[in-house]
Amino acid sequence: MKLMNTASAPEKTAKMTTEAKEIVGKVGKEPEYAIPLLQEIQRRHSYLPQDLVEAVSAEAGIPVSNLYGVATFYSQFRFKPQGKYLIRVCHGTACHVAGADIISAVIAQELGIEEGGTTPDNLFSFEKVACLGCCALAPVVMIGDRIHAKLTSSKVKSVIKEYKNGEA
Ligand code: FES
Repeated sequence: MKLMNTASAPEKTAKMTTEAKEIVGKVGKEPEYAIPLLQEIQRRHSYLPQDLVEAVSAEAGIPVSNLYGVATFYSQFRFKPQGKYLIRVCHGTACHVAGADIISAVIAQELGIEEGGTTPDNLFSFEKVACLGCCALAPVVMIGDRIHAKLTSSKVKSVIKEYKNGEA
């Protein structure tokens, strides 16, 4: 016999509704608040959970298609959960010339994920970004709020190892 957890769906919906009320109460419910509403959702969850976006849409009276229209337009918004450490590999011009493609390839290989992915243990997410503003240090990678500069294949491997071992 297959057991079903019938209480979880309504509980989840009630939780989403409560959180949506909090978010809309804090930010506002006019259509021009679409970006701040999405930013608040992402600030809380590090991405945009679909259930919560729908609940905020209902609470604010803003069509969900409008919220997703805005969310897909701006690269700041994520649609999948993010790992504990977000690795941003700079692919601006200076970093590109200095070997950003190799750095990204090494990271992908070390973590076993593609760009935009998150490791199964939720420790790392990996994305490519435009200039991080420290071109003299190229190639650079930002992990959390730390910049790792003048990277080589071996340096990036040891940086990842430090984070994996909790030494960073
Ligand atoms: S191009 Fe990478 S920091 Fe500017």
